[in-house]
Amino acid sequence: MSSARTLVKDALHAAAAPADPILLQGWVRTRRDAKGFSFIELNDGSCLKGVQVIARDTLPNYAADIGRAQTGASVEVRGRLVPSQGQGQKWEVVAESLVIVGDTDATYPLQKKGHTLEFLREIAHLRPRSNLFGAVFRVRSRLAYAVHQFFQEKGFAYVHAPIITASDCEGAGELFRVTTLDPSHPPMTEAGDVDFRRDFFGKRAYLTVSGQLEAEVFACALSNVYTFGPTFRAENSNTSRHAAEFWMIEPEMAFCDLQGNMDLAEEFVKHLIRDARQHCAADLEFFGKFVDKDLLARLEFVLERPFQRCSYTDAIDIITQSGRKWEHPVIWGDNLQSEHERFLAEEHFKCPVTVFNYPRTLKPFYMRVNEDGKTVRAMDLLVPGIGEIIGGSQREERLDVLRENLAHHKLSEKDYWWYLDLRRHGTVPHAGFGLGFERMLMFVTGVGNIRDVIPFARTPGNAEF
Ligand code: 4AD
Ligand code: MG
Repeated sequence: MSSARTLVKDALHAAAAPADPILLQGWVRTRRDAKGFSFIELNDGSCLKGVQVIARDTLPNYAADIGRAQTGASVEVRGRLVPSQGQGQKWEVVAESLVIVGDTDATYPLQKKGHTLEFLREIAHLRPRSNLFGAVFRVRSRLAYAVHQFFQEKGFAYVHAPIITASDCEGAGELFRVTTLDPSHPPMTEAGDVDFRRDFFGKRAYLTVSGQLEAEVFACALSNVYTFGPTFRAENSNTSRHAAEFWMIEPEMAFCDLQGNMDLAEEFVKHLIRDARQHCAADLEFFGKFVDKDLLARLEFVLERPFQRCSYTDAIDIITQSGRKWEHPVIWGDNLQSEHERFLAEEHFKCPVTVFNYPRTLKPFYMRVNEDGKTVRAMDLLVPGIGEIIGGSQREERLDVLRENLAHHKLSEKDYWWYLDLRRHGTVPHAGFGLGFERMLMFVTGVGNIRDVIPFARTPGNAEF
């Protein structure tokens, strides 16, 4: 293959027609035959639009091959870029040669528009070739880049947290076990339990639910760090916002309190929205047209206004005094449910809102206890349409309080010896948060189901592909 391939994106945005023919490679979206020539819409995934190719019947292989240029076939076209006669595009390509690289047939499932998202999930190996999924995964790629750009330009160091771990950071018991023991004949202890001392790692091991504890280690050395990797939760909740495998970005900052943490979260989310608008404008317009009519106005509005901030105690007052009937009525001390979170962001504040200072009993062991002894310096960022996209906190930096918290949560100091050690040697106030990358993508694209913003969704009962 020639290395001088031109991407459709670059062909469509050319300032002037190149003197020489260009080489395009991609997949046929549609073909229309007219008298003496055919129109082929060629898409290579480099952008939403395809380029229109005109194949005249004077091509030597026209009669033999044009019928093979069916929807879904891969083709290679050499031709001249010429000003387009048609509406809506600047350039089209007049083919000087057309090669069918890979044939297809009428069983190719993406023949027509208007497939349901559910159907497209069943063909996750082909859905990236559709307009919607092409756009989603271009935005996903761009935002992953923007994440690194944001933190690198601020001087944060990228830390690769381990994927296999022995600790349950969130303490929610949603761990996937990692083991090489034979499930039908595991070694047993004398007491009759499975003997994990004889497992691969010499102890129980799991897929990580969060890289936070390891990020704290590095923040207490490199000051400002972030992780960006896959995390795993065996959460058996079949919702549109939960996946068993998802990607999380977790910044962690030494010498930082809850206020600084909230400021960074707001700046970060706005940076990602701004970046997508700037670099994925055509894809966002597509979402605005076909997925969520209010998307562009909402993103604009979110960028313009400061996020609201509200303590958990005030949030409970707002919810209980709203005069609504709730499916789950709440009193102080209860977890906010999705209906409450969405009410706060969508109806009460009508903008992203950071709820902070949650009851100690609701949150994990590592959060900084407030002076009242009842609340911790936790924060959740709630956004319209989704609810929580960020969870974070200032961390408990005092050894004695942290030990007390471990005891409260029935966790063993032995398992967290290294985490406690950070508080013994040069402890500092520090804080961080986790942004669910897929939830952020849902917010930026308007796509309503987490299964449609991750290449291959892992949810209960589903690990095809
Ligand atoms: O609120 P979470 O559980 O916080 C943590 O894991 C902290 N250790 C983060 C930190 O302080 N470094 O999760 C953080 C975010 C949530 O706000 C949500 O966006 C996302 O991760 N998330 C999920 N996304 C998809 N599927 C799931 N099952 C998710 N669980 C959490
Ligand atoms: Mg959370």
